[in-house]
Amino acid sequence: MAKIVVTGKIPHEGIDLLTAEHEVDAWDSLDQMPRDEMLRRIKGADAVLTLLTEKVDDEFLDAAGEQLKVVANVAVGYNNIDVPALEKRGVVGSNTPKVLTETTADTAFALMMMVTRRFGEAERVIRSKTPWQWGMFYMLGMGLQGKTLGVVGLGQIGAALGRRAKAFGMDVVYSDRSEAPADVVAELGAKRMDMDEMLRTVDVISLHCPYLDSTHHLMSTEQFKLMKPTAYLVNTARGPIVDEQALVDALKAGELAGAGLDVFEKEPEVHEALLTMDNVVLLPHLGSATIETRTAMATLAARNALNVLAGKAPETPITK
Ligand code: GLV
Ligand code: GLV
Repeated sequence: MAKIVVTGKIPHEGIDLLTAEHEVDAWDSLDQMPRDEMLRRIKGADAVLTLLTEKVDDEFLDAAGEQLKVVANVAVGYNNIDVPALEKRGVVGSNTPKVLTETTADTAFALMMMVTRRFGEAERVIRSKTPWQWGMFYMLGMGLQGKTLGVVGLGQIGAALGRRAKAFGMDVVYSDRSEAPADVVAELGAKRMDMDEMLRTVDVISLHCPYLDSTHHLMSTEQFKLMKPTAYLVNTARGPIVDEQALVDALKAGELAGAGLDVFEKEPEVHEALLTMDNVVLLPHLGSATIETRTAMATLAARNALNVLAGKAPETPITK
Protein backbone atom coordinates (compact mmCIF):
# COMPACT_ATOMS: atom_id res chain seq x y z
CA MET A 1 0.00 0.00 0.00
CA ALA A 2 1.27 3.39 -0.98
CA LYS A 3 0.62 6.59 0.95
CA ILE A 4 -1.43 9.17 -0.95
CA VAL A 5 -2.11 12.71 0.25
CA VAL A 6 -4.92 14.82 -1.22
CA THR A 7 -4.26 18.47 -0.35
CA GLY A 8 -7.78 19.82 -0.83
CA LYS A 9 -11.37 18.63 -0.72
CA ILE A 10 -12.30 16.91 -4.01
CA PRO A 11 -15.41 14.93 -5.06
CA HIS A 12 -15.54 11.62 -3.21
CA GLU A 13 -15.52 9.60 -6.43
CA GLY A 14 -11.83 10.46 -6.77
CA ILE A 15 -11.08 9.59 -3.14
CA ASP A 16 -12.99 6.29 -3.47
CA LEU A 17 -10.73 5.16 -6.34
CA LEU A 18 -7.66 5.89 -4.24
CA THR A 19 -8.84 4.29 -0.99
CA ALA A 20 -9.77 1.08 -2.82
CA GLU A 21 -6.05 0.41 -3.24
CA HIS A 22 -4.03 2.63 -0.92
CA GLU A 23 -3.77 4.52 2.35
CA VAL A 24 -5.23 7.98 1.79
CA ASP A 25 -4.87 11.15 3.84
CA ALA A 26 -7.39 13.57 2.31
CA TRP A 27 -7.96 17.12 3.52
CA ASP A 28 -11.69 17.30 4.17
CA SER A 29 -12.32 21.01 4.69
CA LEU A 30 -13.50 23.48 2.05
CA ASP A 31 -10.92 25.93 3.39
CA GLN A 32 -7.48 25.71 1.83
CA MET A 33 -5.08 23.57 3.84
CA PRO A 34 -2.50 25.84 5.54
CA ARG A 35 0.90 25.52 3.86
CA ASP A 36 2.65 24.36 7.08
CA GLU A 37 0.10 21.66 7.64
CA MET A 38 0.40 20.50 4.02
CA LEU A 39 4.18 20.34 4.16
CA ARG A 40 3.89 18.20 7.32
CA ARG A 41 1.28 15.87 5.90
CA ILE A 42 2.97 15.15 2.58
CA LYS A 43 6.10 13.84 4.31
CA GLY A 44 6.57 10.24 3.21
CA ALA A 45 3.86 10.39 0.53
CA ASP A 46 4.24 8.31 -2.64
CA ALA A 47 1.60 10.34 -4.46
CA VAL A 48 0.02 13.76 -3.90
CA LEU A 49 -3.14 15.13 -5.52
CA THR A 50 -2.96 18.93 -5.59
CA LEU A 51 -5.32 21.82 -6.31
CA LEU A 52 -4.34 24.82 -8.41
CA THR A 53 -4.06 26.89 -5.21
CA GLU A 54 -1.08 24.76 -4.06
CA LYS A 55 2.43 25.78 -5.06
CA VAL A 56 4.43 22.67 -5.95
CA ASP A 57 8.06 23.79 -5.77
CA ASP A 58 11.39 22.61 -4.34
CA GLU A 59 10.17 23.26 -0.80
CA PHE A 60 7.15 21.03 -1.45
CA LEU A 61 9.26 18.28 -3.04
CA ASP A 62 11.84 18.40 -0.20
CA ALA A 63 9.05 18.15 2.36
CA ALA A 64 7.53 15.12 0.63
CA GLY A 65 10.81 13.21 0.37
CA GLU A 66 12.60 11.01 -2.16
CA GLN A 67 9.94 8.29 -2.29
CA LEU A 68 7.50 10.70 -4.01
CA LYS A 69 6.53 9.32 -7.42
CA VAL A 70 3.69 11.47 -8.70
CA VAL A 71 2.01 14.86 -8.30
CA ALA A 72 -1.45 14.78 -9.89
CA ASN A 73 -2.90 18.27 -10.30
CA VAL A 74 -6.70 18.43 -10.18
CA ALA A 75 -6.75 21.22 -12.82
CA VAL A 76 -5.84 21.64 -16.45
CA GLY A 77 -3.65 24.68 -15.80
CA TYR A 78 -0.46 23.79 -13.97
CA ASN A 79 1.38 27.06 -13.54
CA ASN A 80 1.29 26.20 -9.81
CA ILE A 81 3.73 23.35 -10.52
CA ASP A 82 7.47 23.72 -11.13
CA VAL A 83 7.64 21.08 -13.87
CA PRO A 84 11.46 21.15 -14.33
CA ALA A 85 11.87 20.61 -10.55
CA LEU A 86 9.69 17.49 -10.81
CA GLU A 87 11.59 16.24 -13.86
CA LYS A 88 14.95 16.77 -12.17
CA ARG A 89 13.85 14.48 -9.35
CA GLY A 90 12.15 11.93 -11.59
CA VAL A 91 8.71 12.75 -10.17
CA VAL A 92 5.85 12.36 -12.66
CA GLY A 93 3.36 15.22 -12.97
CA SER A 94 -0.13 15.16 -14.49
CA ASN A 95 -3.10 17.51 -15.05
CA THR A 96 -6.77 17.14 -16.04
CA PRO A 97 -7.28 18.29 -19.64
CA LYS A 98 -10.22 17.23 -21.88
CA VAL A 99 -12.70 16.53 -19.07
CA LEU A 100 -13.21 20.25 -18.45
CA THR A 101 -13.07 21.45 -22.06
CA GLU A 102 -16.80 21.88 -22.70
CA THR A 103 -17.58 23.37 -19.29
CA THR A 104 -14.83 25.96 -19.55
CA ALA A 105 -15.86 26.86 -23.10
CA ASP A 106 -19.42 27.31 -21.77
CA THR A 107 -18.08 29.73 -19.17
CA ALA A 108 -16.18 31.73 -21.78
CA PHE A 109 -19.25 31.83 -24.01
CA ALA A 110 -21.46 32.90 -21.11
CA LEU A 111 -19.05 35.73 -20.26
CA MET A 112 -19.04 36.80 -23.91
CA MET A 113 -22.86 36.92 -23.94
CA MET A 114 -23.12 38.64 -20.59
CA VAL A 115 -20.68 41.38 -21.42
CA THR A 116 -21.80 42.05 -25.01
CA ARG A 117 -25.50 42.04 -24.06
CA ARG A 118 -24.91 43.87 -20.75
CA PHE A 119 -26.73 41.19 -18.78
CA GLY A 120 -24.70 41.65 -15.58
CA GLU A 121 -25.33 45.37 -15.63
CA ALA A 122 -28.99 44.80 -16.47
CA GLU A 123 -29.50 42.35 -13.64
CA ARG A 124 -27.98 44.83 -11.22
CA VAL A 125 -30.55 47.44 -12.30
CA ILE A 126 -33.38 45.22 -11.14
CA ARG A 127 -31.67 44.11 -7.94
CA SER A 128 -30.93 47.69 -7.00
CA LYS A 129 -34.63 48.58 -7.44
CA THR A 130 -33.67 51.27 -9.94
CA PRO A 131 -36.80 52.27 -11.91
CA TRP A 132 -36.76 50.86 -15.44
CA GLN A 133 -39.04 50.44 -18.39
CA TRP A 134 -38.85 48.69 -21.73
CA GLY A 135 -37.51 51.11 -24.28
CA MET A 136 -36.48 51.01 -27.92
CA PHE A 137 -33.05 52.26 -26.99
CA TYR A 138 -32.86 50.89 -23.47
CA MET A 139 -29.63 49.06 -22.62
CA LEU A 140 -28.72 47.96 -26.11
CA GLY A 141 -25.80 45.60 -26.48
CA MET A 142 -23.73 44.27 -29.35
CA GLY A 143 -25.07 41.29 -31.31
CA LEU A 144 -22.62 38.46 -31.90
CA GLN A 145 -23.94 37.37 -35.31
CA GLY A 146 -21.59 38.33 -38.10
CA LYS A 147 -18.94 39.47 -35.63
CA THR A 148 -15.45 38.04 -35.36
CA LEU A 149 -14.12 36.10 -32.39
CA GLY A 150 -10.37 35.94 -31.89
CA VAL A 151 -9.16 32.91 -29.96
CA VAL A 152 -5.72 33.19 -28.37
CA GLY A 153 -4.53 29.59 -28.19
CA LEU A 154 -6.62 27.27 -30.35
CA GLY A 155 -6.23 24.22 -28.12
CA GLN A 156 -9.10 22.10 -26.88
CA ILE A 157 -10.92 24.82 -24.94
CA GLY A 158 -10.29 27.46 -27.60
CA ALA A 159 -11.67 25.12 -30.28
CA ALA A 160 -14.73 24.29 -28.16
CA LEU A 161 -15.44 28.01 -27.79
CA GLY A 162 -14.89 28.42 -31.54
CA ARG A 163 -17.58 25.77 -32.21
CA ARG A 164 -20.06 27.64 -30.02
CA ALA A 165 -19.21 30.94 -31.70
CA LYS A 166 -19.61 29.44 -35.15
CA ALA A 167 -23.01 28.03 -34.20
CA PHE A 168 -23.98 31.58 -33.18
CA GLY A 169 -23.01 32.95 -36.57
CA MET A 170 -19.61 34.36 -35.67
CA ASP A 171 -16.43 34.18 -37.72
CA VAL A 172 -13.50 32.66 -35.87
CA VAL A 173 -9.84 33.60 -36.19
CA TYR A 174 -6.98 32.55 -33.95
CA SER A 175 -3.41 33.16 -32.93
CA ASP A 176 -1.14 30.43 -31.64
CA ARG A 177 2.52 29.49 -31.51
CA SER A 178 1.84 26.87 -34.15
CA GLU A 179 -0.75 25.92 -36.73
CA ALA A 180 -3.80 24.24 -35.11
CA PRO A 181 -4.73 20.69 -36.27
CA ALA A 182 -6.08 20.75 -39.83
CA ASP A 183 -9.44 19.20 -38.89
CA VAL A 184 -10.06 21.88 -36.25
CA VAL A 185 -9.10 24.68 -38.64
CA ALA A 186 -11.34 23.20 -41.34
CA GLU A 187 -14.29 22.69 -38.97
CA LEU A 188 -14.14 26.26 -37.71
CA GLY A 189 -12.99 27.83 -40.95
CA ALA A 190 -10.55 29.61 -38.68
CA LYS A 191 -7.79 31.73 -40.13
CA ARG A 192 -4.53 32.05 -38.22
CA MET A 193 -3.31 35.59 -37.65
CA ASP A 194 -0.41 37.11 -35.82
CA MET A 195 -1.44 38.62 -32.52
CA ASP A 196 -1.32 42.28 -33.65
CA GLU A 197 -3.37 41.65 -36.78
CA MET A 198 -5.89 39.70 -34.75
CA LEU A 199 -6.19 42.44 -32.12
CA ARG A 200 -7.01 44.98 -34.85
CA THR A 201 -9.57 42.67 -36.48
CA VAL A 202 -11.72 41.08 -33.81
CA ASP A 203 -14.89 42.12 -31.98
CA VAL A 204 -14.24 39.75 -29.08
CA ILE A 205 -10.93 38.27 -28.00
CA SER A 206 -10.91 35.24 -25.70
CA LEU A 207 -7.79 33.89 -23.99
CA HIS A 208 -7.13 30.13 -23.97
CA CYS A 209 -3.36 29.90 -23.72
CA PRO A 210 -1.47 28.52 -20.71
CA TYR A 211 0.11 30.97 -18.27
CA LEU A 212 3.86 30.92 -18.93
CA ASP A 213 6.68 33.49 -18.68
CA SER A 214 6.03 34.11 -22.38
CA THR A 215 2.30 34.82 -21.84
CA HIS A 216 2.73 37.03 -18.75
CA HIS A 217 0.89 40.29 -19.53
CA LEU A 218 0.28 39.12 -23.09
CA MET A 219 -2.58 41.63 -23.00
CA SER A 220 -1.21 44.98 -21.88
CA THR A 221 -1.28 48.69 -22.81
CA GLU A 222 -0.02 48.24 -26.36
CA GLN A 223 -2.43 45.40 -27.13
CA PHE A 224 -5.48 47.24 -25.83
CA LYS A 225 -4.56 50.21 -28.00
CA LEU A 226 -4.61 47.97 -31.08
CA MET A 227 -8.12 46.70 -30.33
CA LYS A 228 -11.22 48.36 -31.74
CA PRO A 229 -12.88 50.58 -29.13
CA THR A 230 -16.02 48.50 -29.71
CA ALA A 231 -14.28 45.17 -28.92
CA TYR A 232 -14.44 43.04 -25.79
CA LEU A 233 -11.97 40.90 -23.85
CA VAL A 234 -12.85 37.54 -22.25
CA ASN A 235 -10.45 35.74 -19.90
CA THR A 236 -11.12 32.27 -18.50
CA ALA A 237 -7.46 31.19 -18.65
CA ARG A 238 -5.22 32.70 -15.96
CA GLY A 239 -5.31 36.18 -14.45
CA PRO A 240 -1.72 37.32 -15.01
CA ILE A 241 -2.00 36.80 -18.78
CA VAL A 242 -3.75 40.19 -18.58
CA ASP A 243 -2.06 43.28 -17.16
CA GLU A 244 -5.02 44.21 -14.95
CA GLN A 245 -3.94 47.81 -14.39
CA ALA A 246 -3.52 48.28 -18.15
CA LEU A 247 -6.98 46.79 -18.66
CA VAL A 248 -8.48 49.23 -16.16
CA ASP A 249 -6.72 52.14 -17.87
CA ALA A 250 -7.87 50.99 -21.33
CA LEU A 251 -11.48 50.61 -20.16
CA LYS A 252 -11.38 54.06 -18.56
CA ALA A 253 -9.94 55.53 -21.76
CA GLY A 254 -12.62 53.84 -23.87
CA GLU A 255 -10.04 51.82 -25.79
CA LEU A 256 -12.22 48.75 -25.49
CA ALA A 257 -15.91 48.25 -24.85
CA GLY A 258 -15.84 45.83 -21.95
CA ALA A 259 -14.41 42.70 -20.39
CA GLY A 260 -15.66 39.38 -19.03
CA LEU A 261 -13.28 37.95 -16.46
CA ASP A 262 -13.29 34.62 -14.63
CA VAL A 263 -9.68 34.91 -13.41
CA PHE A 264 -7.65 37.75 -11.89
CA GLU A 265 -4.06 38.82 -11.69
CA LYS A 266 -3.86 38.66 -7.88
CA GLU A 267 -6.65 36.15 -7.34
CA PRO A 268 -8.76 36.15 -5.20
CA GLU A 269 -8.13 39.91 -5.07
CA VAL A 270 -9.88 41.89 -7.81
CA HIS A 271 -8.73 45.34 -8.92
CA GLU A 272 -10.98 47.83 -7.10
CA ALA A 273 -11.67 49.85 -10.24
CA LEU A 274 -13.17 46.82 -12.01
CA LEU A 275 -15.82 46.54 -9.31
CA THR A 276 -17.18 49.95 -10.23
CA MET A 277 -17.37 49.38 -14.00
CA ASP A 278 -20.72 48.39 -15.45
CA ASN A 279 -19.16 47.13 -18.69
CA VAL A 280 -17.22 44.45 -16.83
CA VAL A 281 -18.57 41.03 -15.87
CA LEU A 282 -16.78 39.34 -12.99
CA LEU A 283 -16.96 35.67 -12.02
CA PRO A 284 -15.02 34.04 -9.15
CA HIS A 285 -12.99 31.46 -11.17
CA LEU A 286 -15.92 29.19 -12.08
CA GLY A 287 -14.55 27.95 -15.43
CA SER A 288 -14.86 24.24 -14.71
CA ALA A 289 -17.35 24.52 -11.86
CA THR A 290 -20.02 21.92 -12.57
CA ILE A 291 -20.71 18.84 -10.47
CA GLU A 292 -20.10 16.58 -13.48
CA THR A 293 -16.83 18.20 -14.50
CA ARG A 294 -15.34 18.45 -11.01
CA THR A 295 -16.16 14.76 -10.52
CA ALA A 296 -14.47 13.87 -13.81
CA MET A 297 -11.42 15.96 -12.85
CA ALA A 298 -11.13 14.18 -9.49
CA THR A 299 -11.39 10.70 -11.00
CA LEU A 300 -8.93 11.50 -13.81
CA ALA A 301 -6.40 12.84 -11.28
CA ALA A 302 -6.92 9.73 -9.15
CA ARG A 303 -6.39 7.42 -12.15
CA ASN A 304 -3.24 9.32 -13.07
CA ALA A 305 -1.81 8.81 -9.57
CA LEU A 306 -2.84 5.14 -9.48
CA ASN A 307 -1.28 4.51 -12.89
CA VAL A 308 2.08 5.87 -11.79
CA LEU A 309 1.97 3.92 -8.52
CA ALA A 310 1.32 0.79 -10.61
CA GLY A 311 4.39 1.52 -12.75
CA LYS A 312 2.39 2.81 -15.72
CA ALA A 313 2.24 6.18 -17.45
CA PRO A 314 -0.48 8.64 -16.43
CA GLU A 315 -3.24 9.31 -18.99
CA THR A 316 -2.43 13.03 -19.09
CA PRO A 317 1.20 13.72 -18.15
CA ILE A 318 2.80 17.17 -17.91
CA THR A 319 6.35 15.90 -17.32
CA LYS A 320 8.58 14.28 -19.93
C1 GLV B 1 -8.87 25.72 -13.63
O1 GLV B 1 -8.60 26.89 -13.66
C2 GLV B 1 -8.01 24.70 -14.16
O2 GLV B 1 -6.89 25.00 -14.61
O3 GLV B 1 -8.43 23.53 -14.13
C1 GLV C 1 -20.30 41.74 -12.51
O1 GLV C 1 -19.67 42.77 -12.43
C2 GLV C 1 -21.36 41.50 -13.45
O2 GLV C 1 -21.45 42.29 -14.39
O3 GLV C 1 -22.14 40.55 -13.25
